[in-house]
Amino acid sequence: MKVVAFNCSPRENGNTSHMIGGVLKALESHDVETELVQVGGRDVHGCRACGACFKNRNMKCIQGDDIVNLCVEKMVSADGIVIGSPTYFSDVTSEAKALIDRCGYVTRANGMALRRKAGAAVSAARRAGSIHSMDSINHFFTINEMFVVGSTYWNISLSRAEGDYEKDDEGVKTMKDLGENMAWLLSRIGGAQ
Ligand SMILES: Cc1cc2nc3c(=O)[nH]c(=O)nc-3n(C[C@H](O)[C@H](O)[C@H](O)COP(=O)(O)O)c2cc1C
Repeated sequence: MKVVAFNCSPRENGNTSHMIGGVLKALESHDVETELVQVGGRDVHGCRACGACFKNRNMKCIQGDDIVNLCVEKMVSADGIVIGSPTYFSDVTSEAKALIDRCGYVTRANGMALRRKAGAAVSAARRAGSIHSMDSINHFFTINEMFVVGSTYWNISLSRAEGDYEKDDEGVKTMKDLGENMAWLLSRIGGAQ
């Protein structure tokens, strides 16, 4: 079993990264292989709506000059996907949105390639809007026939400066429980369907 996680915060060592780390640690304790891919702060273009992915159906976005095609490959070969984003103006970062739009179109153009994988969304925020960010990511999972994983609270933390997440005890527990639940689900649904 493998889970790939995407950190869509430009702060590589920020709260989102540590939240994802909490989820992955719990998964690893159940012998799930994990990988973290840094997306935030990298050059990630938006979808151009050119339709080439539906014409070519080669599991690739025609924009080959950024990391999105690598992310598509990693998503398709994983059994579970974690997408983490800080909350920016009550929604995900522009990198997260570009990742969602382009990976979503490419995989839908290629036989719903994310079908029946497990998906977990996590979002950090100073104060408000993280539920909406989490929803934005969950919309990506659910339209792709994926199973959404929940926790003992919504998958968020209250955190502003780097390191704040560790002070949010409930957030830390929520991430651990999320990883436990994802491991449980993966053990039931088996490998990528
Ligand atoms: C451009 C921008 C917009 C933000 N918008 C919000 C917001 O709408 N609500 C909120 O609570 N925090 C907001 N924040 C704060 C971040 O969500 C918060 O600092 C978070 O912990 C950052 O996560 P990171 O360390 O993973 O980057 C914003 C920060 C930035 C830079």
